[in-house]
Amino acid sequence: MTSQSYRKPLRKAVFPVAGLGTRFLPATKAIPKEMLPIIDRPLIQYAVDEAREAGIDQLIFVTGRGKTAIVEHFDTAYELETTMSERGKSFEVLEPTRVQPGNLVTVRQQVPMGLGHAIWCARAIVGDEPFAIFLPDELMIGSPGCMKQMVDAYDEVGGNLISVLEVPYEQVSSYGVIAPGKRLDALDGALCEVTGLVEKPKVEDAPSNLIISGRYILQPEVMRVLEGQGQGAGGEIQLTDAMARMIGEQPFHAVTFAGRRYDCGSKVGFVEATLALALERDDMAAEVREIAQRLLG
Ligand code: UTP
Repeated sequence: MTSQSYRKPLRKAVFPVAGLGTRFLPATKAIPKEMLPIIDRPLIQYAVDEAREAGIDQLIFVTGRGKTAIVEHFDTAYELETTMSERGKSFEVLEPTRVQPGNLVTVRQQVPMGLGHAIWCARAIVGDEPFAIFLPDELMIGSPGCMKQMVDAYDEVGGNLISVLEVPYEQVSSYGVIAPGKRLDALDGALCEVTGLVEKPKVEDAPSNLIISGRYILQPEVMRVLEGQGQGAGGEIQLTDAMARMIGEQPFHAVTFAGRRYDCGSKVGFVEATLALALERDDMAAEVREIAQRLLG
């Protein structure tokens, strides 16, 4: 097994957006969770921007019922643009929502049977190429972005790669955790081999405190593994289980993300992200800081 055979360039990204978003109900009854904005950009836009920064331009959305707003967001809005230009307003702000014709494909996950199942639904479009996965509700803020850091690592080792972050041990039970192997010299020691993956371990059983964050680069063979895989934890088809079965078959590494992760799938994480990003923006930081200080008494 050499990495050489698993180094095809990365051009495609899968965005699983078919989940029900139950933690945000009733807000997400008619609006997809991935369209909730952190200040003025929906979560899905942050993920797409991160993909593009990493040189990935073929976007595959795994959608479901009630998710059409996501596709609309990346469509050209003629009426809006015409009206804005008639009124002499710039619509430059819409630039990130433009997609080259043919570069956005959607597939449907008819029933939300889990993340692994959502990814498997994209198999025909992924074809025989490596692909990235973005979970849009995990907001990764870094410079360069998380996927760009991963692509730099992929250029070194090829194969399968996941992004990981260190958390306090008492938090590991909420996440997928890696068993780390040999650490590599490349990229200032941010890269290590992965020898195992465990979904939501007990603290005492956790092989490390390195949690899988929502960015992956996987080889297409994972689709065949998902094909024959039954339900895992929570009765869902788990991506972690399929990845665990790839270890030993193909190169598998983790890269520690140099940046911050906000869990925008949870309400508190969402508020934290909003506040953190607002405090970094030139157009509002001073005002928001003043408000926050006032509220804190
Ligand atoms: P989550 O488990 O965080 O999302 O999945 P959820 O199920 O929508 O949220 P809650 O727990 O009910 O509040 C992470 C990502 O995977 C997608 C979700 O849309 C989200 O972007 N997903 C999850 C699917 O596309 N299909 C699934 O069957 C499950």
